[in-house]
Amino acid sequence: MLKRFLLAPGPTPVPPEVLLSMAMPIIHHRAPEFLPVLESAKTGLQWLFQTKNDVLILTSTGTGGMVGAVNNFFNPGDKVVVVNGGKFGERWTRIAQSYGLKVEEILVDWGYAVKPGAVEDVLKKDPEIKGLFVQATETSTGVYHDIESLGKVVKRFGNVLFIVDAISALVAQDIRTDEWGIDIMVGGSQKGLMLPPGLAFVSVSDKAWKKNESSKMPRFYFNFKKERETLAKNQTNFTSAVTLIIGLNEAIKMLRSEGLENVFLRHARLARATREAVKSMGLSLYSKESPSNSVTAIEAPAGIDGQAIYKNLRETYGITGAGGQDRAKGKIFRLAHLGYADSFDVITAIAALEMVLKEMGYSIQLGSGVAKAQEILMQ
Ligand SMILES: Cc1ncc(COP(=O)(O)O)c(C=O)c1O
Repeated sequence: MLKRFLLAPGPTPVPPEVLLSMAMPIIHHRAPEFLPVLESAKTGLQWLFQTKNDVLILTSTGTGGMVGAVNNFFNPGDKVVVVNGGKFGERWTRIAQSYGLKVEEILVDWGYAVKPGAVEDVLKKDPEIKGLFVQATETSTGVYHDIESLGKVVKRFGNVLFIVDAISALVAQDIRTDEWGIDIMVGGSQKGLMLPPGLAFVSVSDKAWKKNESSKMPRFYFNFKKERETLAKNQTNFTSAVTLIIGLNEAIKMLRSEGLENVFLRHARLARATREAVKSMGLSLYSKESPSNSVTAIEAPAGIDGQAIYKNLRETYGITGAGGQDRAKGKIFRLAHLGYADSFDVITAIAALEMVLKEMGYSIQLGSGVAKAQEILMQ
């Protein structure tokens, strides 16, 4: 028997409380008993997003929310800026271009965070720019972009919408939607929210709703204006993903009882323990700046293939992390500490990593990384 541990940056493990809540018989999405369920999900998401704005609930993966963030607020030919520092930054560009937007990319070396000053320079140069798209956590590199500072920059440009993909950052990072001036923020269910895949969440500011009035792009399924109107009646436009929304309420209940600040502190502690443990094993972080609290990207030691580390962790020890994507494939592997994660997920992952690396010929004192992680987790 091989016991399985899911330590990927999504999907992430679903707690038993949430699984049980979703085992209840299906209720009809237009029946009166569903209205309070949706109402509670709606207010719970506003709490989590730290916003008074509407937070739409869409039946799709996170990318559906990203698509809606593009085609509900712009017109073909509009100029926008995308921070591209990895696979998901690249996704913003591809979505925006597929809807006819003119994209200026700020290319950031993989493993680094965007400099707010660089964004300011680009926005200053061209008053026609209508949006700034960025990831909070760029999952492919394990880097967290400084959303607070970027928000301060964007606030100086009244014509620019600030659009944040927080799909992998939500719950792990303290992101203050209203305080930091985020106009559109996208989340997804299968990450920090401890749910199965299938829901996207999008918060929309008043400034963005104004832009929605003049946006003429084709849309049918992801029609945010219609979703907003229906949400006001505690419904969704199409059949609600009732099971997932019931699970969402249970997950939010768990997060509320822990307290938002404690949730962020837990993620920060697990991330630090992971980082310090791997460093004490002589490994280097791939994120050279601003490593995220959701996922740690680690460079494979010289002469060892990162994909093989990922594969051996999974096949020999049942630990599913993640490999590297695209240009980072083979060079790195990633361990997440996101959502339903605690100290012993980190200790288990580090212990298995020590064993895998030793088996692959890397010189390591077994237990050294675990000891470092324990030291930090006890602080
Ligand atoms: C930062 C980021 N953006 C977007 C996505 C895409 O989300 P989904 O696979 O749910 O469409 C992911 C998922 O890995 C992500 O981590």
